[in-house]
Amino acid sequence: MRAPNKLKISLAVTAAASLIAATGCSANQPAGSSAGGSDKLEITSWWTSGSEADALNVLIDGVKASKAGLAVDNAAVSGGGGSNARQALAARLQAGSPPDSWQVHPAGQLKSYVDGGQVADLTELWTQNDWASQMPKDVAEAQQVNGKYYTVPIGVHRGNVLWTNPAVLSKANVKIDPAGGVDGLISSLKQVQAAGATPVCLGDKDIFASSQLLESIIMSRAGADNWKKIFTNEYSFDAPEVKQALEDYKTILSLANKDHSAITWDEASKKMANGACAVNLMGDWAYGELVNAKKKPGTDFAWVTFPGKEDIFDYVGDGFSIPANNIPHAEAANAWLKTLMDPKVQTDFAAKKGSIPAVKSADISGLSQYQQEAAKSFASAKVVSSLAHAQAAGAEFAQTYADAVSTFNGSGNADAFIASMTQAQKTQL
Ligand code: GAL
Repeated sequence: MRAPNKLKISLAVTAAASLIAATGCSANQPAGSSAGGSDKLEITSWWTSGSEADALNVLIDGVKASKAGLAVDNAAVSGGGGSNARQALAARLQAGSPPDSWQVHPAGQLKSYVDGGQVADLTELWTQNDWASQMPKDVAEAQQVNGKYYTVPIGVHRGNVLWTNPAVLSKANVKIDPAGGVDGLISSLKQVQAAGATPVCLGDKDIFASSQLLESIIMSRAGADNWKKIFTNEYSFDAPEVKQALEDYKTILSLANKDHSAITWDEASKKMANGACAVNLMGDWAYGELVNAKKKPGTDFAWVTFPGKEDIFDYVGDGFSIPANNIPHAEAANAWLKTLMDPKVQTDFAAKKGSIPAVKSADISGLSQYQQEAAKSFASAKVVSSLAHAQAAGAEFAQTYADAVSTFNGSGNADAFIASMTQAQKTQL
């Protein structure tokens, strides 16, 4: 993690309004207008794995190309899912020393920053550039809070993908059928175990990996509509399907590598592709990571949507916001946001990241078969938002969930899990 004493205290106090004032003119400035190369931009994110770093560099190169002489400080903080990065960011926001832009999930997590008065209103930028019409309605809506835009999307990830090792499965004579639901999956995994292999690779050193596994099971058991109703308090964590999901989760955890809490999400995905186990549940950033590690799709690894009755797309959005106050380099931040919306940048980013572009005009014809399938599914499946990634609900509720999963991993106490989540439904939603 970046040490706080490394943080630069900016003397520039630039309100969001002056960013908006810079909007429009900066796009028309000739390249090289930032004379002397003194222009800077500091970006924070949690993109530090091989594929994440490469994908982030596509964005950094993109903004540099749009603004000659710009120096970009990539202040990424490691830790998959971003809890370390968000902690470091919170300290900076508290100290009044924000970066120029930071990574954020839309909807729930974004709303927490809006409620805290920490992110700038970008509605004027959106309107001027007519961005809403350039992306699916679901995506545009997720970037809003109370009808105003506060973030800019770079891509759409799917959280509920089961990555599989074809050789390990075929050795155990197992074929995972997504339509077989969670019961079918568990019996397949037990068959793998009986054949002498480790069924599941998990890397929950950062707790989001197991939070996401449990959420995939709950979605499959309860269905997409009930999942959505959790967050409007019309469906309870006390429901029988959730209880069943907790039992399933316990079983699946017992079929995983014993060192799961010592390894990271990307290590677990690579272990699966290397043949150490049969399956790994992970968002499709794992696709980017496996390809980055020179694994061959279809040969070294394959994929199915996490088994269930419906085709559910667990949407995990990535984007960037800028601070409401004390922005150090407003004009460069503006150029950054515009770069993110460049269709070619979105395509090139997706190629490294495993996501699909957020803008409809981005060309996906050169992206992988997996991504073509994901794009189709995003248009036709039931799209829900991830809680493990604080999109379905605000940061506080998502943290309660992460903590409850962590405790459950140790205790296996379903009643305690349900009690803390039902309490949070009453008080934190
Ligand atoms: C998610 C993010 C992804 C990926 C993942 C693992 O929160 O949306 O882009 O980076 O964390 O770090």
